[in-house]
Amino acid sequence: MERTFLMLKPDAVQRGLVGEVIQRFEKKGFKLVGLKLIQVDRTLAEAHYAEHRGKGFFEPTVSYIMSSPVVAMVWQGKNVVALARELMGATNPANSNPGSIRGMYGMDISRNVIHGSDSVESAGREIGLYFKPEELVDYQKAG
Ligand code: CMP
Repeated sequence: MERTFLMLKPDAVQRGLVGEVIQRFEKKGFKLVGLKLIQVDRTLAEAHYAEHRGKGFFEPTVSYIMSSPVVAMVWQGKNVVALARELMGATNPANSNPGSIRGMYGMDISRNVIHGSDSVESAGREIGLYFKPEELVDYQKAG
């Protein structure tokens, strides 16, 4: 079954949006298989955003996700990578659908509440950066 990596960014934790955002994915019917509150270090932050190295927003983005704890999560379900991105909305909250997570809560392109993998391949890579295999829990979910 398909999995995606989602991360609630420092603004989500600081503003008390963790429960509300998690609830969106629960109510959509996806299955939570990994969850932890962590302080990201520079090695992990730079590995996470490696594809953006060299761009102007690389360093600010790396610094930002190190600035306060984040909630790292793995969610599982049919087509979860694409569907999670729809629930999240466009990267820049200025362009996000108003009903989406970023559309409702995002303040700007940096403080955009949540990161989600952009492909199944990225999901595999990002899950591997943040979680050891034994930290992911599979189980039967009713409904
Ligand atoms: P995220 O989905 O975590 O992936 C890369 C992040 O870089 C993105 O969300 C934004 O928060 C951040 N970012 C900051 N500036 C830009 C920009 N100009 N274009 C794209 N992403 C940006």
